[in-house]
Amino acid sequence: MMGIEGCRLIHLPRISDTRGNLTFIEEGRHVPFEIQRVYYLYDIPANAERGGHGHKALHQLIVAMSGSFDVVLDDGRRRKTVQLARPDHGLYVCPMIWRELVNFTTGAVCMVLASSLYDESDYYRDYESFVAAG
Ligand code: TYD
Repeated sequence: MMGIEGCRLIHLPRISDTRGNLTFIEEGRHVPFEIQRVYYLYDIPANAERGGHGHKALHQLIVAMSGSFDVVLDDGRRRKTVQLARPDHGLYVCPMIWRELVNFTTGAVCMVLASSLYDESDYYRDYESFVAAG
């Protein structure tokens, strides 16, 4: 496993003109996995914390579509915080990373592209079990 060194910020294409900006994400070009699911978090109350889990095999790309928030990445040995604040930046999160999403601004929208369908058995919901498995 690559740990947090395997996570990285991906600069997505941005087409800008007087009408505004357009960003697109193509499988095989901009994300290093097959996209099987998209979900998004919105109407997030002040001080709410999301995430707080790890995945055994899931790859994800996390994008701040609006507003900003911090993603805390933890591989059981190291911890790193990445602020996401631009719709043309995506944070690639590889498997076996504990992540916490915090400090959402009002109206923030977090979109996540995921490499497989929702599967509760892919989750570590308990930090100690996650670290023990790593
Ligand atoms: P949860 O994992 O707590 O969300 P977060 O990653 O923000 O902490 O998921 C909240 C609920 O939504 C939980 O009951 C599982 C369900 N869920 C789905 O049904 N499908 C999905 O794709 C996701 C991400 C969650």
